Amino acid sequence: MHSDTMKAMVLTGHGGLEKLEYTTLPTPAPANGEVLVQVTATAKNNTDRKAREGLYPTKKGETTSFQMGGKPTLTFPRIQGADIAGRIVAVGNGVDSSRMGERGLLDFNLYANDRPDINLTPDYYGHGADGGFAEYVVVPADQFHTVTNTALADAELAAMGMCSYQTAMHMLTSARVKAGERVLVTGASGGVGTALIQLCRILGAIPYALSTPGKASALVELGAEAVLDRSGMDTFLEQTRAATGGRPFDAVMDLVGGDMTDRFIDAMIFDMNARETYPRLSIAGASGGNISEILWTRIYLYQVQIFGVSHGTREEAGQLVAWIREGQLKPVLHGAFRLSRLHDAERYFTNRGSNYLGKIVIVPDSQWDEHGKRWSLEGSP
Ligand SMILES: NC(=O)c1ccc[n+]([C@@H]2O[C@H](COP(=O)([O-])OP(=O)(O)OC[C@H]3O[C@@H](n4cnc5c(N)ncnc54)[C@H](OP(=O)(O)O)[C@@H]3O)[C@@H](O)[C@H]2O)c1
Repeated sequence: MHSDTMKAMVLTGHGGLEKLEYTTLPTPAPANGEVLVQVTATAKNNTDRKAREGLYPTKKGETTSFQMGGKPTLTFPRIQGADIAGRIVAVGNGVDSSRMGERGLLDFNLYANDRPDINLTPDYYGHGADGGFAEYVVVPADQFHTVTNTALADAELAAMGMCSYQTAMHMLTSARVKAGERVLVTGASGGVGTALIQLCRILGAIPYALSTPGKASALVELGAEAVLDRSGMDTFLEQTRAATGGRPFDAVMDLVGGDMTDRFIDAMIFDMNARETYPRLSIAGASGGNISEILWTRIYLYQVQIFGVSHGTREEAGQLVAWIREGQLKPVLHGAFRLSRLHDAERYFTNRGSNYLGKIVIVPDSQWDEHGKRWSLEGSP
């Protein structure tokens, strides 16, 4: 049995933290093919803040979120939170009742169709439909993937959510990264970066992390071959040569953008005779700035292949969940906040300290003692 009402953090419009209101709402009911999930943990992502602040313009100066199908899907009020772990507490018509009680992880996409291999209009739970910053959420049964592996706590499962992991996977598959290739992972200590490092190793590729020196040992422990210092971009080519034995990166996973992207291209093209494949740049984020200046001649003369990446496919989500079940992927969980303290979590996320690696999860207050308390960051500056 579940309660008829639920606590939720509701986004009431574009703007600051004052637009996030903690309130009580009716618990939603699962429709055909859906399940009702009692949320035990939801990972935070950059996109929560960007969508709230309206930082997905398609024209300069706009305050808006993205509109893949031509009209806005982020309407208000909306419950954000994409990477949801929890348990099925009710099933809709057409869903086998034996699924009741299953623990699982959501594939966060609002897919436009059933195609397993392509996702042309990436939208997601927590943006185009209500997400996991609540006690309950309804989601498609076939996108709530069972994970019984007891070695993983629910908060850790949420930390391996698809927003980071599927994006990382699609960056690598778009650039056709293969075993033995040297891959630069930028924004390496973040959610997508830590996923990229692990996925490179699974694929047999060699990940080089771009981060800050204080995080180097943790990144090497996670699988990075070497860590380059992003505060030393003036000597980035020297850093690259020293790390790779003088060879260019085969591919770059760019989550940073801004002025750095041009340097990343340098690090792939400085010795074209040492290459066996075209230079490949996968772009999925812009933590360092939304505008990069790059000479067109550098792109076409050096045949740099550029891939824009947003989310990924059903096939990739299925593969990732299989690796999670097998224990091949490790959670990188930095800490947890209660749902009612989401404002504090947002501030912590923005002002992150130097020890911050991986994900923060948000746990409903009613689930805190069991699923959140041991990773508590509450009271941290
Ligand atoms: N396209 C998609 O589908 C998709 C999906 C998920 C995320 N994203 C985007 O991808 C980016 C990374 O996401 P995330 O969730 O991994 O973020 P995150 O957890 O916030 O990590 C970002 C990392 O980037 C580094 N960084 C921050 N500011 C930087 C700057 N000015 N210059 C260089 N490095 C900087 C930081 O690491 P160090 O301090 O260690 O360098 C930080 O840990 C964001 O822009 C996000 O919006 C896109």
